[in-house]
Amino acid sequence: MKVIIVKDKLAGGKEGFKLFDEALKNGAKVFGLATGSTPVTTYDELTASDLDFSQSTSINLDEYIGLGSDHPQSYRYFMQQHLFNKKPFAHSYVPDGLNQNTEEATKNYDKIIEANPIDLQILGLGRNGHIGFNEPGTDPKSLTHKIKLTQSTIDANARFFDKATDVPQYAYSMGIGSILKSKKILLEAYGSEKSAIVKAMIEGPITSDVPASYLQKHADVTVVLDEDAASKL
Ligand code: GLP
Repeated sequence: MKVIIVKDKLAGGKEGFKLFDEALKNGAKVFGLATGSTPVTTYDELTASDLDFSQSTSINLDEYIGLGSDHPQSYRYFMQQHLFNKKPFAHSYVPDGLNQNTEEATKNYDKIIEANPIDLQILGLGRNGHIGFNEPGTDPKSLTHKIKLTQSTIDANARFFDKATDVPQYAYSMGIGSILKSKKILLEAYGSEKSAIVKAMIEGPITSDVPASYLQKHADVTVVLDEDAASKL
């Protein structure tokens, strides 16, 4: 893993931008995208730039089950607000949170990923080490699947909802196996509350207790951290 430590998330956004810029210039066609507060500074850099994604495809990691694209906390809505409205892609895929047929929703998404191999995948990091919504214990070979969110994730994401009980209990997520197939991976993490899990991800054993530790097996991962997130390394 290549680790880049910067002063703060604004500087991190500039590092993230560089990887998108470079990938695009090197012919990348498919970008794997993430939600959460972490990638926002990178998306801000992208929207402020003249990079053109109108010939590119984007595939998002995950979506809450039960939330449609017009729900302000759905990940589709988030992507529209933070990136797609200003920087449209030719095709943008997000799992269909309103499809309650798990088999159909997950298989359809796997077909999309198979047909559009991801050149660059951006990731955030959950406080418990999840990537996408792959919670601790997830099979490292997993493809797209339905996940029951842990209480720690529900609590962490409750800040975006009126009350914790409004947070959906389930999500569809690309699997760890799907993520590891990406040619290049960029993981960003900011803030002291991520420092312990950042250390476990980079220096700890490869274990399903810390899903992000499987990234150690990938040949091309860049980790961008601010000084707080890097403080325990
Ligand atoms: C959610 C998302 C993850 C994200 C994580 C961290 O659970 N499914 O993809 O990495 O939150 O969020 P934040 O970036 O806000 O810390």
